[in-house]
Amino acid sequence: MTRRTDDRFVRHRDALKTVTDRLGGIAYGGDYNPEQWPREVWTEDARLMREAGVNLVTVGVFSWSRLEPRPGDYDFAWLDDVLDLLHAHGVAVDLATPTAAPPPWFSHAHPESLPVTRTGTRQVPGSRQVFCPSNPDYAHAADAIVRRLAQRYADHPAVVLWHVHNEWGNHNALCYCDVSAAAFRLWLRERYETLDELNTAWGTDFWSQRYGDWQEIQPPRDTPAFINPTQDLDYRRFSSDALLRRHGAESAFIREHSPRTPLTTNLMGTLEKKIDGFAFAEQCDVVSVDHYLTAADPRAHVGLALNADLARGMAAGAPWMLMEHSTSAVNWQPVNVAKRPGEMRRNSLAHIARGADAVMFFQWRQAKAGAEKWHSAMLPHNGTQSSTWREVTRLGRHLRALTDVRGSTVDADVALVFDWHAWWALELDARPSAHLRYLDLVHSWYEALWSLGHTCDIVPPGSDLSAYRAVLVPSLYLVTDDDAANLHAYARGGGHLLIGAFSGVVDVNDHVRPGPQPGALRDLLGLHVDEYLPVRATDRIALSDGSTAHTWAERLVLHDATATLRFAAGAPGGPAPGEPAVTVNRVAAGSAEYIATHPEPAVLRRTVAALCRKAGVLPTADVPVGVEAVRRRANGGSFLFLINHLDESVTVPVRGTDLVSGRSYEGKCRLGGGDVVVVREYD
Ligand code: GAL
Repeated sequence: MTRRTDDRFVRHRDALKTVTDRLGGIAYGGDYNPEQWPREVWTEDARLMREAGVNLVTVGVFSWSRLEPRPGDYDFAWLDDVLDLLHAHGVAVDLATPTAAPPPWFSHAHPESLPVTRTGTRQVPGSRQVFCPSNPDYAHAADAIVRRLAQRYADHPAVVLWHVHNEWGNHNALCYCDVSAAAFRLWLRERYETLDELNTAWGTDFWSQRYGDWQEIQPPRDTPAFINPTQDLDYRRFSSDALLRRHGAESAFIREHSPRTPLTTNLMGTLEKKIDGFAFAEQCDVVSVDHYLTAADPRAHVGLALNADLARGMAAGAPWMLMEHSTSAVNWQPVNVAKRPGEMRRNSLAHIARGADAVMFFQWRQAKAGAEKWHSAMLPHNGTQSSTWREVTRLGRHLRALTDVRGSTVDADVALVFDWHAWWALELDARPSAHLRYLDLVHSWYEALWSLGHTCDIVPPGSDLSAYRAVLVPSLYLVTDDDAANLHAYARGGGHLLIGAFSGVVDVNDHVRPGPQPGALRDLLGLHVDEYLPVRATDRIALSDGSTAHTWAERLVLHDATATLRFAAGAPGGPAPGEPAVTVNRVAAGSAEYIATHPEPAVLRRTVAALCRKAGVLPTADVPVGVEAVRRRANGGSFLFLINHLDESVTVPVRGTDLVSGRSYEGKCRLGGGDVVVVREYD
């Protein structure tokens, strides 16, 4: 479990506490876009917000063209009125910088600020995030409006939180224009200092790519054959850093003028590959994330749990904010299925269970114009005469009953390692298999833990793992020397590791490590890989326990490790019957297990269950599969969240008081299909 004394934990916890103290409870609300509505509507909004129990709204996210209608000509009067009105109604504000949507005058005056795609198309205005992250004119204009906002609203009593930008990099992280090319070269100079270093890191003797001048270096634009993979990987790092630099610049103005009010930015967890979420979270006072379900996925609640655990991991174990989710359908999937009755409440409480102290939505009032008019909201098109509104007001009441939960931390004895750099590297061009996808691996391993009822923290590979009983590493193709050493030290210190296929293979530059594979983890795992054996998409590999695996296999040669499961019948080109598929190696007081394939869920579940048993990890509660149980703990007490994802009722053991209904459970509780209870447990 994350160390509760860790500096980052304390910083994130205390910052969010200042917000929720001012709100007097869990934050509840959403994005509010008053600029899209006439003034009469604002008064109704403020009144209805109170009725729904809303205590926080995010204002100004996309207001730049209203706040600065012409260059340098600011109009804050309407925003003053909105903030005053909200304050008068007891609704606090998370004030956003509007920099995610530069106004048309800006794009018109600075056409070179428009982003360029990999194939060289310059994108046009008419949308949002239409800017190149490295463009100096954009930086200048963004800095100016942020400085003005920070100065003007630093002491406004409604403002309890600053919201920097909106979902950094969602649409524009990778820009390939000439300005980006120049910024990339500067970034490379800082990273490598000399061209010799760069040539070595990029392996430029391959295909005659040796650089003799920094000016020769380009972004990884469209090329006839495969682009240099390290160039591609570095471009991802550079692009994430370019946005992080913007985040830092905006944050600096806010901190200068408004040092007492914490700041955040809404991150996207696994929904955003292009920015390194851990790096951004570290720069925030409060960590917040957005999460949207994939409507076509019947197991979407498992992905929700994963992202909530990742949000907590980004917050170093501290409580965090769910900054956006949806009351019902979104507008950007092929078919935007509405949430079923009760689903919104279940989703919201599932986030709280995993450490959220805020339940916020996109958005407060459903738009009537623009690209998001078919996106659900707290106050839908048909207003208060709607099932959504009834659910929204009910949720507001229930969240008030959960006030004591805020500030508590989540129990987790297991960690799951997640790393954006390993994700980027695994999915570069020209790998042994394009079907080995990072999120598939992470999701399937997480699902095993979820269905066994174990809560995990999702942490970067370099974090302090010593407090966890077991650590899962679904995929770590790229691993730095330090992170590999961290895993070794964890096992030597008595920890139990489970590591997934094709991990430990390349170094920080995406160079294959010397000696037999997997170079960084060979000794830890007590084996080497004779050959990687990717499997065709339609083929299945039989395992010795009668189950199957797919996508990937390896021919292992065991040294100190022993096999706990073997391949039974290989697919064409796959492993031979009898070769090891899952292995274990004793490491001092700990152990390191390896899964050299992509097994079906049941095998993964059995392997993870055995690991947890060995490590002494117990499920949170004795509940049937399909019922999620998560515990939050505060000084002197614990809260058990029980979420029934099944259609039928179940009986679960529990002793305590339901925070919402006040009912006491003296041993068991009958939980209706789709229902949730939050129980203050007896000692
Ligand atoms: C988010 C974004 C919001 C809104 C929402 C719709 O990614 O931050 O502004 O567009 O998606 O689901």
